[in-house]
Amino acid sequence: MSQRTLVLLAHPTTAQSRNNTALADAVRELPNVTVHDLYAEYPDHRIDVAREQQLAEQHDRIVFQFPFYWYSTPALLKQWQDEVLLWGWAYGTEGNALRGKTLQVVTTTGGGADSYRPGGYNRFPMEHLLSPLDQMAHLTGMVLADPLILHSVRETSDEDLALFAKRYRELLEG
Ligand SMILES: Cc1cc2nc3c(=O)[nH]c(=O)nc-3n(C[C@H](O)[C@H](O)[C@H](O)COP(=O)(O)O)c2cc1C
Repeated sequence: MSQRTLVLLAHPTTAQSRNNTALADAVRELPNVTVHDLYAEYPDHRIDVAREQQLAEQHDRIVFQFPFYWYSTPALLKQWQDEVLLWGWAYGTEGNALRGKTLQVVTTTGGGADSYRPGGYNRFPMEHLLSPLDQMAHLTGMVLADPLILHSVRETSDEDLALFAKRYRELLEG
């Protein structure tokens, strides 16, 4: 049986999203997968912390799925971390709620893979830019999976997007 997976989808304008909408659609109907669209759930940005903690507790793997914005997550996913990952729940004394769960980052970028390296116009490797999430996983006892990254979204063909969506689906099925 596959792991119970919570996909925290964070895209502020899904109506204009080509990539993240297609990716969410590719996994939405999978058994054991809950797609939780944060911007749709909280249009006023008032996160229900108890509900989010309960959801996280009910799943074995948490996916952060988001378009890469200013080398980071969109604001509501950062807010989710700030408000949900509390001392005594996520870390600190008896803060073991996430221990042993998997954190999977799935993100899409405008910049090409080649730009994310020293000398490229984005200068830093993705793993460097994603290091706050790496450390968040470490502090909360989560296991960080290799990120799934779709680069160069503006140049990606429909076929390439479908292929990437298939990889994503297979990953969550596994
Ligand atoms: C506010 C904003 C910030 C962005 N910042 C970055 C960035 O730091 N690096 C990058 O490669 N692309 C950046 N992009 C491009 C987005 O990552 C890209 O549009 C998105 O992944 C496309 O996904 P979608 O089709 O689901 O909207 C940015 C786009 C916006 C609107």
